[in-house]
Amino acid sequence: MKNILVTGCAGFIGSNFLPYFLDKYEEYNLINLDLLTYAGNLDNLKECDNNSRYKFIKGDICNRELVEFIFNEYDIQGVIHFAAESHVDNSIKNPGIFIETNVNGTFTLIDVAYKKWMNKPFEYKKNYNGCRFHHISTDEVYGTLAETGLFSEITPYAPNSPYSASKASSDMIVRSYQETYGLNTVTTNCSNNYGPKQHDEKLIPTIIRKALAGEYIPIYGDGKNIRDWLYVLDHCKGIDLVYHSGKEANIYNIGGRNERTNLQIVDSICTILDEKAPSEKSYKELITFVEDRAGHDRRYAIDATKLENELGWKADEDFDSGIVKTIEWYLEKYNG
Ligand SMILES: NC(=O)c1ccc[n+]([C@@H]2O[C@H](COP(=O)([O-])OP(=O)(O)OC[C@H]3O[C@@H](n4cnc5c(N)ncnc54)[C@H](O)[C@@H]3O)[C@@H](O)[C@H]2O)c1
Repeated sequence: MKNILVTGCAGFIGSNFLPYFLDKYEEYNLINLDLLTYAGNLDNLKECDNNSRYKFIKGDICNRELVEFIFNEYDIQGVIHFAAESHVDNSIKNPGIFIETNVNGTFTLIDVAYKKWMNKPFEYKKNYNGCRFHHISTDEVYGTLAETGLFSEITPYAPNSPYSASKASSDMIVRSYQETYGLNTVTTNCSNNYGPKQHDEKLIPTIIRKALAGEYIPIYGDGKNIRDWLYVLDHCKGIDLVYHSGKEANIYNIGGRNERTNLQIVDSICTILDEKAPSEKSYKELITFVEDRAGHDRRYAIDATKLENELGWKADEDFDSGIVKTIEWYLEKYNG
């Protein structure tokens, strides 16, 4: 048995990843360290409660004593690091916590891992050879794109929001532990995820929730900002592949080749809701344009060729299939 520390798995992506990973690998115990901020919810992990290979610890990734205790107590042999402050709008209002969690938290985790697993730079301790630190990051570190072009692993970093700047900084810290100490790291930079268990504050849950409540559906600016949407389980499968088979010191971009404007997203969701939960008028009549987000990146789009060619990853869902599953999940949540 191997003990793996996973962080932030009471949040959206982690809570989709954890049951998938736990089920797939009977040889792993998973220890989930999560502070349960407003974004974490243990209801997301109810299905794992009775699994003897799963342990939840409430705590802060910035708490070095606690992180050291966990590494020693559970003899941690791998890390998959999801925990972060993740909402761009919050980072505009309150950037400090993003620096604290995303930068200092990542530093604390990786520094403890280095000291636990290695004697000195480029020399692993006998029982920890090859222990890997997998850092989960975002395509937002690359900044914004014009109408054409895609983000690849060699696109220069140009983060624009405090959120993306804090994630870019954490990516650089991870890189430095690889280059300076020879710690075995991989980083995945993924595009926008959607699917079950996402926090109410994010775009797709907001659209569904507001529509069902008969409230105005707020869309930033002209609604023409483009994101590359990936169904969350496809992200989880990509993480699994990279954690196990990705080349050390490498970055892999994950994205579904599903570019959509926010207007297309809201339009698709309203069309499906009009069928599945008809109201007197079309939900499209609730769409309202609101003042744009400050510094709103225009377009993100990922080139996932490296992950596809090297590791054989392919998204199982396209937007049309994934969004139906997603809406069905939220209909259950909001309408009971
Ligand atoms: N959601 C996306 O579309 C997306 C896309 C690409 C990358 N990512 C990255 O994936 C990771 C997970 O994103 P998400 O959408 O699941 O985020 P989320 O906000 O839904 O969840 C974050 C989790 O981290 C926990 N957390 C926050 N601060 C903590 C701390 N100091 N110590 C311990 N736990 C803490 C929260 O309680 C929560 O459970 C993040 O690193 C994010 O940058 C997200």
